[in-house]
Amino acid sequence: MEKIIINGGKPLMGEITICGAKNSVVGLIPAALLAEEGVCVLENIPGISDVSMMLSILKSLGARVKVIDKNTVEIDSRNIITNVVPYEMSKNLRASYYLIGALLGRFKKAKVAMPGGCDFGTRPIDQHIKSFEALGASVDIENGMVNATADNLIGSAIYMDVVSVGATINAMLTAVKAKGLTIIENAAREPHIVDIANFLNAMGADVRGAGTDVIKIRGVEKLHGCTYSVIPDQIEAGTYMAAIVATGGKALVKNVIPKHLESIMAKLVECGATIEEYDDSILISRDKPLVKCDVKTMPHPGFPTDMQPQFATLLSIASGVSVVNENVWDNRFKYVDQLIKMGAKIRVDGNLAIIEGVEQLKGAPVGATDLRAGAALIIAGLCAQGTTEIEKIEYIERGYDSIVEKLSAMGADIKRVTFPDNNLGSIAL
Ligand code: EPZ
Repeated sequence: MEKIIINGGKPLMGEITICGAKNSVVGLIPAALLAEEGVCVLENIPGISDVSMMLSILKSLGARVKVIDKNTVEIDSRNIITNVVPYEMSKNLRASYYLIGALLGRFKKAKVAMPGGCDFGTRPIDQHIKSFEALGASVDIENGMVNATADNLIGSAIYMDVVSVGATINAMLTAVKAKGLTIIENAAREPHIVDIANFLNAMGADVRGAGTDVIKIRGVEKLHGCTYSVIPDQIEAGTYMAAIVATGGKALVKNVIPKHLESIMAKLVECGATIEEYDDSILISRDKPLVKCDVKTMPHPGFPTDMQPQFATLLSIASGVSVVNENVWDNRFKYVDQLIKMGAKIRVDGNLAIIEGVEQLKGAPVGATDLRAGAALIIAGLCAQGTTEIEKIEYIERGYDSIVEKLSAMGADIKRVTFPDNNLGSIAL
């Protein structure tokens, strides 16, 4: 069993470089299936397990995947042999739903197992299905497989009943090959929506308005390969910024797009951080006490739900009572029990977490319950007194490239250790 062990209390100092965005690249890789001519080269790819899983799925479909270097892959989708993605391949990956949109766009048929991924309660895909149907597909779900087929894909008006990142991207992936004009209304506006639209356009698509809530897509006959660089990961950046602030450190966060981090920076400043913004980097520090602040998660440009656990951890050591309102997912507070083990005072009431700041967290054996929950426990361990031992780190490795190495380089006392499976670790439970 792999664990991360942290001896807390060391301020993070120096600099850190942010990788390509996880939630972008897990859409860009399936999008490469749409290239019928030439090859796609994706640059600035993060070294995370979600990427490896997605590339393995593409290979199983018949794509040729060549690793050029640790952050660059070449994908050749000219000779795809199947449009079926079995459960075993997609069960651990939420983003496997993008394979439906991409395969449907390319071949007018797709059979993909229902997506897996982090458990935050109900995670419906009704808006994805509604979009495929609006574009002319018939969709049924049988034995856990989503089966989408169309005789012809025809552009259409799609109104999203909820603002959904996944459904917006999936609608784009199919609509780029639908005949005529598609208009997506109430579209999600996250930076990765724009990134995927830019990639599709570089492949020959005609997508306009991404980043606003109305996206217009004119279908084209064929898409071709291109070279494209993934945008920096605003959630990875936000996570390290929260860690730097939590530990009272000072560091330069490099390879970011500050505009994508506005809501996160505003909240960090509100609770005591000092920030200097540059073109593609941010200098962040804290030399005064942390103070309470209230946070409500919302679709972009609101405060991102994917920063909620990390921010709640920071607030658990801020003076005063903070209220965190989780407005996107119905069950994203599972990690709170773990923070309570470390001495946090947090009460969850429905979609609210009421956090009474404590002087200091104390190290404890804890377990990640999902990706961002794991990141939150790392932040807790970095600022806690004593030793924190984190289990289930495979969740963390789904989305953070070299997290132990990056934090060590900023002065953290952190290591990744392999224990025999029946070993209880170095801390008495
Ligand atoms: C994406 O998930 C991200 N995942 C999530 O990040 C992120 O939390 C989420 O967007 C919100 O920002 C990926 O990009 C792979 P949604 P997604 O569709 O697309 C409801 C992380 O930690 N909904 O925007 O699955 C849904 O229940 C991960 O990096 C419907 O009702 O999220 C939720 O309440 C976790 N019907 C809300 O919309 C649908 O058909 C937003 O979900 C689809 C969604």
